[in-house]
Amino acid sequence: MEVFKRTAQLNTGAQIPLIGLGTVSADQNEEDITAAVITALQVGYRHFDTASMYKSERPLGKALNTAFQNGLVKREDVFVTTKLWNTEHDDPVTAIKSSLKNLQLDYVDLYLIHWPIKLRKEAPLSGALDRKPTKLTTEVNPYSGPKEEDFLPLDLKSTWQGMEQCLEMGLTKAIGVSNFSSKKIEDLLSHAKIPPAVVQVEMHPQWQQKKLRDYCSKHNIHVSAWSPLGAPNTPWGSNLVMDDPIIHEISQKYGKTRAQVMLRWGVEQGVSVLPKSYNTDRIFSNFQIFDWSLTPEDHDKIGMLKQAKLYRGNAFVNNTTSPYKTVEELWDGEI
Ligand code: A2P
Repeated sequence: MEVFKRTAQLNTGAQIPLIGLGTVSADQNEEDITAAVITALQVGYRHFDTASMYKSERPLGKALNTAFQNGLVKREDVFVTTKLWNTEHDDPVTAIKSSLKNLQLDYVDLYLIHWPIKLRKEAPLSGALDRKPTKLTTEVNPYSGPKEEDFLPLDLKSTWQGMEQCLEMGLTKAIGVSNFSSKKIEDLLSHAKIPPAVVQVEMHPQWQQKKLRDYCSKHNIHVSAWSPLGAPNTPWGSNLVMDDPIIHEISQKYGKTRAQVMLRWGVEQGVSVLPKSYNTDRIFSNFQIFDWSLTPEDHDKIGMLKQAKLYRGNAFVNNTTSPYKTVEELWDGEI
């Protein structure tokens, strides 16, 4: 069998591991995160995804530092991504320095603009992550979102210049964006001195991002998938993706878990997948996706699934102060 590469090359020349551990949950507990990261390192994960907004930078940093000190891994063997939160657009250099302090690192491998949204510095972080799941829904996130007075006019050109400065200062090895439509990436490319290396977006079998992936592949931008399992049992996701009968059928055919099928599908589509788990067995089983494969027929079947975005971003839309009056405007119609 042909050996399946476990990394993809970015337009910077760096390699990004195709599976990374996500670290966002409605129920963040620092000890759980540190323990999960150590387990993941032992299992073989070399890619970790965090954000200043997730409150997981510090426990991730603690775990990595312990692992460096006891020789489990070297800094250059791990790929760490963090993100500029909406309140930090004015000064990405100060923001990344604060993230690096939390992470106890000199540099990250990838720094992303978390959302095409700018909020005033004092806007509270409260929201989706503070809520415990109440009911499962395919509808909008219950996060009520920033208040009207929290929004500031968006100036992505100046934010991107700040991101470029982070790269030039050696604080990150690559820069990119998250939750951008292909239209917004196109706008960015029209003024960027350094093009984005990565776009990280919601992607799973029920939100396949075909248009965006097509655009990114033409422009040599790597795509990373957040919530590649459809975020079961979270306030912003749904069990519907994991419970899809086609995913179930394929998982039975191979004797694999449904999560493994979804993750294998993602990496065979050429993206890196970032499943979140703090459970030892699931951290282990989610990583077992490199010694088997799907057939073109499996891809055809999954390719036919009905599409529905789980996290629509209603929280970032209003009629007065947001740059987006509707969800369609937020995603430039790509929803
Ligand atoms: P847990 O941390 O208890 O494992 P996503 O990565 O799509 O956002 O999904 C994250 C959610 O999926 C978390 O609630 C996580 O819970 C759960 N999860 C992770 N791996 C699996 C798996 N193999 N099977 C079922 N649920 C999983």
